[in-house]
Amino acid sequence: RIAGPCGMVLFGVTGDLSRKKIMPAIYDLANRGLLPPGFSLVGFARRDWADQDFAQIVHDSVKAHARTEFREEVWNQLAEGFRFVSGAFDDDVAFDRLRRTIEELDQVRGTGGNHAFYLAIPPGGFGLVAQQLQEHGLAVAPDELPVGRSGDRPWRRVVVEKPFGHDLTSARELNSTLDTVFAPPAIFRIDHYLGKETVQNILATRFANTMFEPLWNNNYVDHVQITMAEDVGIGGRAGYYDGIGAARDVIQNHLLQLMALVAMEEPTSFDAEALRIEKQKLLASIKLPRRIDRGTARGQYAAGWAGGAKVLGFKDEDGIAATSRTETYAAITLNVENRRWAGVPFYLRTGKRLGRRVTEVAVVFKRSPHQPFTATSVEDLTQNALVIRVQPDEGMTVRFGAKVPGTQMEIRDVNMDFAYGGTFTEASPEAYERLILDVLLGDPPLFPRHEEVELSWKILDPILERWADKGSPEDYPPGTWGPASADKMLARDGRVWRRP
Ligand code: BG6
Repeated sequence: RIAGPCGMVLFGVTGDLSRKKIMPAIYDLANRGLLPPGFSLVGFARRDWADQDFAQIVHDSVKAHARTEFREEVWNQLAEGFRFVSGAFDDDVAFDRLRRTIEELDQVRGTGGNHAFYLAIPPGGFGLVAQQLQEHGLAVAPDELPVGRSGDRPWRRVVVEKPFGHDLTSARELNSTLDTVFAPPAIFRIDHYLGKETVQNILATRFANTMFEPLWNNNYVDHVQITMAEDVGIGGRAGYYDGIGAARDVIQNHLLQLMALVAMEEPTSFDAEALRIEKQKLLASIKLPRRIDRGTARGQYAAGWAGGAKVLGFKDEDGIAATSRTETYAAITLNVENRRWAGVPFYLRTGKRLGRRVTEVAVVFKRSPHQPFTATSVEDLTQNALVIRVQPDEGMTVRFGAKVPGTQMEIRDVNMDFAYGGTFTEASPEAYERLILDVLLGDPPLFPRHEEVELSWKILDPILERWADKGSPEDYPPGTWGPASADKMLARDGRVWRRP
């Protein structure tokens, strides 16, 4: 699948995301031959740069972060399509310049009027940029543009990065602003977790096989744990992170999307609409614990030692107020009110400066109703589990009991493992590569629709409101698995967190 003639306009070229993910992904796509030869990339920012300065920024970012090898001929061809437009978001003259730049590229690069506007900017700017695109005739390709060889009309698309709002009200406002400028199929909301191979494989595991789905319900599943742990702190992202926190940063999007894929019913197909219907139904069935204080936990990393190095506490990080109450760890219990899942808690947790970097989904099964063994035979046997290892060690593990060789009947846990590295010779594309290519192809299944975004905020809002009333999060030492209150939360249900 190779993208047809097109280009991209990138807002937010000086940001971390552009440099670490978007620019390298564009180069990697070009290097893999998945972009059209005349692809164009226009940077838009307030800097006083010439095209060459912008090309240098992209060059440095590609050298530092691209996954494929650097090839001069690929680079040179790509860089010929780079342009830079200098201006602020409220600068009408700059947006006119942008329109003329695009028109020029359509002539010299054959981009055919097809352009995606990628808003890798703070969400406060989404509305203004969308309006500017509309007012300067950029949101819709002009009618006089020739119909492409395939008979398609030229297209304009917009790509927005999270956070999609701060709560349900702001998410609705944001969605309605975007909706007035772009038609829903032209709006691509990035949740980069959906671009990960191992996340897409959740649906393959469930629906391409016969052996998992019969067990995938409250007859057999005891509970599900979804973990996204990071060993790093907030790095240089104080401006973004303070006041946002772990729940808004990760649970509202990545973890609720993961949960939806794990728990939803089988879609009628894998097209965007069929997936949206099932994810939306699942998200709408989620219920919060009756007592939010007992079913959630939050924490903030303190100063200490991690990986042999002394690290700052969250409040000491550059740009964070000493009084900050932003959580860097969040855990929540969710229930799903439907026939399949009633009575099966889903525990979601995420945090910075934890023991290690790992994202996984663990489906933990009920204990066998009867064991024809003595208590000592099975004392080392825990519950069966299926663990989907999203990253970094991509694969799946089935944990079950087996007899230890010897003269005694002693049963303990063993693991059956599937590892991507040992099975596939194909490397997994970076999530951003896959998603950017899908935008250019106009393929929407891996992008959450506005209904899903709003439902996710609806789930989170009452928790965030409760936390806002409750004072500061609990400290936890770096390099651990979070605050004690998170362990207590599970202990109250008679369960323990996995230590992946
Ligand atoms: C982002 C969050 O969405 O995901 C970051 O804003 C987080 O805080 C990042 O570090 C993690 O992504 P990945 O792909 O490394 O798990």
